[in-house]
Amino acid sequence: MTATILDGSATAKAIREELKSQVDSLRQRGETPPGLAVVLVGDDPGSRVYVDQKQKACDKAGFYSIMSRFPAATTEAELLGQIDRLNTNAAIHGILVQVPLPKHIDESRVMHAIDPRKDVDGFHPINVGKLMLGDDTFFPCTPLGCLELLKRYRVPIQGKRALVVGRSNIVGKPVAMMLLREHATVTIAHSRTADLPGEVGRADIVVAAIGKPEFVKGAWLKEGAVVLDVGINEVPHPTTPGQRHLVGDVEFATARERAGWITPVPGGAGPMTIAMLLQNTLKARNQLVSAK
Ligand code: GUN
Repeated sequence: MTATILDGSATAKAIREELKSQVDSLRQRGETPPGLAVVLVGDDPGSRVYVDQKQKACDKAGFYSIMSRFPAATTEAELLGQIDRLNTNAAIHGILVQVPLPKHIDESRVMHAIDPRKDVDGFHPINVGKLMLGDDTFFPCTPLGCLELLKRYRVPIQGKRALVVGRSNIVGKPVAMMLLREHATVTIAHSRTADLPGEVGRADIVVAAIGKPEFVKGAWLKEGAVVLDVGINEVPHPTTPGQRHLVGDVEFATARERAGWITPVPGGAGPMTIAMLLQNTLKARNQLVSAK
């Protein structure tokens, strides 16, 4: 079997166009456009690339956006001060603080400081709690993008065995809860799981979010499985010396021969994450405006 590619680039583009037309009609009616603030502390090159992509996508979709860049030596108090200002800025409906933050800043304290109504990443404990309870909330963007891809490709989830590899707060834990909400039978595997190949082999849906290049082997997969590869790893190019390229957490070449559906890297989960950030920002805007 050769897998159907779950094309995140094309799907994200379609979603961004849908959002743009909603924002265009808001602007035509003279109403407030959605506003996103992106906060970056330090100069991690990967984070800079992500943050630039987020802002570019905002601009193209007609969103208002501001970017706050802080040097790595910024104190926690300075960062909390900026979050306070964004919490009370009426033109801003979504606040995203790119993580990881420098070691001297308590990430949890920063997440607690964001107004939960503007928490478009879904990282605030109130929103994490709502996800656990099954309430409506802001779902974290990468997990939301994975589920949206399955929905748009009409891949069934209900009753399927789903394996999430990785237990991070950003991807592993929330995607597991979201698959559970869609009535999958969910297992979370991690670095101390006893028999990972065996767990992968039993799964109808595999979400790989461990951050290790090509760690999940195609040979482990059940024939016809759905593979969502959330990893973005930069590694030396196999044939061109001195060049680097991106690979996921799944060994793509072998996996695509066994899987039923698979996300490529790049062009799978990554672009969907950004489209979902815009979707969450528009949702936050609509909720804040109608609550006024
Ligand atoms: N760092 C890596 N992914 C994310 C994300 O989705 N949101 C934020 N804020 N930081 C990230």
